[in-house]
Amino acid sequence: MAKVIGGVFTSHVPAIGGAIQRGAQDEPYWKPFFDAWPPVREWLDVQQPDVVIMFYNDHGLNFFLDKMPTFAVGAAPVYRNEDEGWGLHPFPIPPGHTELSWAIIEKLVEEEFDITTCQDMAVDHAASIPLALAWPGREAPVRIVPITINTVQHPLPSAKRCLALGRAVGKALAEWQGPEKIMVMGTGGLSHQLDGERAGFMNAEYDKFCMDNLSSDPDALTKHSVHEIVELSGTQGVEVLNWIAARGALGSAASEVTRTYHIPISNTAAAVMVLETEAAVQSGKATNEATPAMA
Ligand code: DHB
Ligand code: FE
Repeated sequence: MAKVIGGVFTSHVPAIGGAIQRGAQDEPYWKPFFDAWPPVREWLDVQQPDVVIMFYNDHGLNFFLDKMPTFAVGAAPVYRNEDEGWGLHPFPIPPGHTELSWAIIEKLVEEEFDITTCQDMAVDHAASIPLALAWPGREAPVRIVPITINTVQHPLPSAKRCLALGRAVGKALAEWQGPEKIMVMGTGGLSHQLDGERAGFMNAEYDKFCMDNLSSDPDALTKHSVHEIVELSGTQGVEVLNWIAARGALGSAASEVTRTYHIPISNTAAAVMVLETEAAVQSGKATNEATPAMA
């Protein structure tokens, strides 16, 4: 039976993609950010996930302001990465897991979420950069189900609704009978504001509140209205909604494996976290037992 092993939560700043493509990871500006990733990759090496459920927001590549679904689920066999204006070369995107997409879509509609389904879908930097960070230099060895949340054009969904969306996805995953190991990714944030009077705004205190509660009490993140989150986190910091939804898909218990927080990357407070479920703890133990320690 399928197992939900945990999740990787990360910022998705386009400049990170530029740094990867220039090979700038060891430059003083970038090193503290990229140093967050070896522990994430160690966890992925042990866990060997087969599927990524990717919670992110589209920034005008697949949906523009004229058509903006609150929630959309990809159900395509392939997803194109294109540059929506940052000058990035396309990153390799793994194939879609269409059967699982449809199982998730069926469950979400049954649970009364009025979603948009996308059988043809381009994915932007918010999906491609996290995959390139987790599996550098190659196509990620997984299949994906992309789920977008509108964090761009008001009215935005509430944190409570996003957590409920994630929990409904979690129900679909729990019912999925396939053999896959499934992980989630939640991308974006943390606090940042790219334009207007508060351009450059970040809020380490609110970001810490989010990271401190993500594993043990994600409902705490729903106590703020979406307008309060914009106030606390910045107009684009509201991308934390993607983290909240991804956390919801992990079920009730998830423990923190690693966390890094670094201000700033571009205009953003850059954060990386891994949470794992009990299924991952057990399979990690099994892997360690099967692999004799080096002398
Ligand atoms: C930046 C951050 C983002 O999340 C994004 O989508 C675009 C730009 C930034 O800090 O530059
Ligand atoms: Fe963004």
